[in-house]
Amino acid sequence: MKPSKLQLAYFSPCGGTLRAAELLCGQFEGVPVERVNMTCPPGALPGVIPVKKEELLVLAFPVYGGVPPRVEGLFRQLKGQGGPCVLLAAYGNRAYEDALAAAAAQLTRQGFVCVGGLSCVTPHVFAPRLGAGRPDSGADLAAFRAFAEAVKRALAQPALCPAALPGEAQPALKPLKPVPRVRDTERCIDCGLCARACPAGAMDRRYQVDGARCVNCMACRMACPVGAWKFDPSGVRAWLEENFAQPRPVEWFAAGGATG
Ligand SMILES: Cc1cc2nc3c(=O)[nH]c(=O)nc-3n(C[C@H](O)[C@H](O)[C@H](O)COP(=O)(O)O)c2cc1C
Repeated sequence: MKPSKLQLAYFSPCGGTLRAAELLCGQFEGVPVERVNMTCPPGALPGVIPVKKEELLVLAFPVYGGVPPRVEGLFRQLKGQGGPCVLLAAYGNRAYEDALAAAAAQLTRQGFVCVGGLSCVTPHVFAPRLGAGRPDSGADLAAFRAFAEAVKRALAQPALCPAALPGEAQPALKPLKPVPRVRDTERCIDCGLCARACPAGAMDRRYQVDGARCVNCMACRMACPVGAWKFDPSGVRAWLEENFAQPRPVEWFAAGGATG
């Protein structure tokens, strides 16, 4: 089956994931793309976002601590009817660990067949030298193309089969490395946009952050019109640059055992 439409659902506070996802969607020439931005506060989306069986859901998310972002209820609205989905896990050149398997388990529970998963490097928001310029127009683009071709082959089969994806479907969660942040009260114009933008609903009207809900996605910093939120990732940046500078390739997995 050729999908009637791509439904691109994405969580991308700093834009790297979305850029990679657009590159992937571009490999399905002639198929229209509808976008659902899921980088939004709790309650901003309809309770159910149905995806028809003849459509292909492309779910794109960044990897945080080796798994999809631990935002309560994230992607819960997506409801499949036994149709296909593919996953794109964007990560900052450290590791994507259990991200694909964990997302596939959730989407399978929500009525999709995960026919493929791809991991790709994007600039690390805390250490942008890692992943600078990725995905690139050389080996990365070639891998995206090969993945799309493998997905098209999987969709042409008489029945949809799930792809074998690496990692644990229900991984033990690791603590995230702390990234200190301050709000510059001299700059802040008290507009509240940061609190309203928080996809985790972690910030109150007085800009106090609930550390148990916040996932450090930096949507607050991106939403601030005057640059009042300052994150200090210097500690984590030094660790990343020292240990994870060697560029990692795109990896993909499709139904039928195809990999690249
Ligand atoms: C809280 C947090 C945790 C992260 N954890 C990882 C990780 O475990 N492995 C990795 O390679 N990159 C990690 N990254 C980097 C992001 O996956 C990467 O920067 C991604 O492109 C961000 O997506 P965005 O640009 O769409 O917001 C992390 C970033 C954040 C903000």
